[in-house]
Amino acid sequence: MNDNAFELSASKMRAEGMSEFSIAQFKHLYECWRSGDFGGSVREADVSPLKNVPAIRDIHESIDMDMALDAFSKTAFLKLNGGLGTSMGLEKAKSLLPVRRHKARQMRFIDIILGQVLTARKRLGVPLPLTFMDSFRTSHDTMTVLKKDRRFIQEEVPVEIIQHVEPKIDAQTGEPVSFPADSDLEWCPPGHGDIFATIWESGLLDTLQEQGMEYLFISNSDNLGARPSRTLAGHFAQSGAPFMIEVALRTDADRKGGHIVIDKKTGHLLLREMTQVDPADRSAAMSIKRHPYFNTNSIWVRVDALKEKLAEYEGVLPLPIIENKKTVDPADPSTRPVIQLETAMGSAVSLFDGATCVQVDRMRFLPVKTTDDLFIMRSDRFHLTDAYEMEDGNYNFPNVELDDRYYKNIADFNERFPYGVPSLAAANSVTIRGDWTFGRDVTMYGDAVLDDKGVSSYVPNGQYIGPQGVEPDEWV
Ligand code: UTP
Repeated sequence: MNDNAFELSASKMRAEGMSEFSIAQFKHLYECWRSGDFGGSVREADVSPLKNVPAIRDIHESIDMDMALDAFSKTAFLKLNGGLGTSMGLEKAKSLLPVRRHKARQMRFIDIILGQVLTARKRLGVPLPLTFMDSFRTSHDTMTVLKKDRRFIQEEVPVEIIQHVEPKIDAQTGEPVSFPADSDLEWCPPGHGDIFATIWESGLLDTLQEQGMEYLFISNSDNLGARPSRTLAGHFAQSGAPFMIEVALRTDADRKGGHIVIDKKTGHLLLREMTQVDPADRSAAMSIKRHPYFNTNSIWVRVDALKEKLAEYEGVLPLPIIENKKTVDPADPSTRPVIQLETAMGSAVSLFDGATCVQVDRMRFLPVKTTDDLFIMRSDRFHLTDAYEMEDGNYNFPNVELDDRYYKNIADFNERFPYGVPSLAAANSVTIRGDWTFGRDVTMYGDAVLDDKGVSSYVPNGQYIGPQGVEPDEWV
């Protein structure tokens, strides 16, 4: 490792005209990384499990709806939209991906987000300013859509803040990586924890306060369930807490995910990712009985409290760093291994005295991380209402495993479902092994399985697929 490596990164950032503030934030991440300070492991003995978090469904009736509407009229909406969806082979904003058809229109994530916000504004007569945090990779496309949408009018509050950019680090030398074949790939956004530094540098909080906004709701643009909620705004305002995380009950599928615990020493809430779990504590951390809640990455924060906290740390909150190991071209595993230094938004919870959690229904957590998730969202398992809400009749989702070799990348996925995804209304789980392309009007039911035939295979129009695969013609 080169001892001067940070200086090389700083010079590279300066040469691109990046601010001294963004260099200072990167310095903090880089120094933590070089000294091996990842926020340390959070030992089971040092934390207490989070229990009995009030469920919004149960406390709904105790919320004064006039007060809730007042709080909602002072709420601003911020969408994290800087990620690239590399897990699906995307190099552009995931929010521009079509999710489903609605009344003969292809709806992208961004159309659904706009639809949800515009519906809330109209129905409840609230200003609900909407701001996207974009990255240099997502800004152009997002702004093109927003400018074209004539229904979306917003003057005082910026519709976009642009997050920082940092160099990808060569994993062997610690220097900024060089990739002349596509120099854009030498850079990356520093994770969604960058929201705080980006807000600070943009001056957004001052603008919000000038507009009378007191609360800020921040959520992922790839979570279609994180829609505006008057009830949650009311609950947050009533709680008096400076910071609130929406958590949901962990199921077996979430065992390996981050969860919220209480730091015994400080009494503060802590977001514990699996990478922060000591191997000896793994089974305790994975127990969904012991640690029942996970972080949906939807947070509510008081504008004044955030402003104060950011001022205290001069804009760079001391969040634990995440070492994201990739290759410089994420689509080509033979290119140089790099480290992307990131932070997570939710980890800021431990910096706020009196931070709290609220339990929300799973329908507020509908993330699309992989094409397996997209497969469900595009199916008849869901219905998109006229208020742009995703609805699922029975609130439980089939377990889906599509063969990574043929479906992981969005282009491969689309090619294999030229007429849309099959009906999943009666499916309990879906497993597809091998390379299958689907005809029209295919139905999957029960524990549907397709096995690898070793050659490209085709499911004809109108077929039924169950536990035995494609049903023989005489059954249909
Ligand atoms: P994730 O980190 O879960 O995924 O982002 P991603 O970056 O979209 O996808 P992969 O890992 O490349 O496949 C959660 C939310 O945070 C935003 C994303 O746009 C998404 O809404 N995000 C993520 C940012 O705004 N900035 C970042 O630097 C990273």
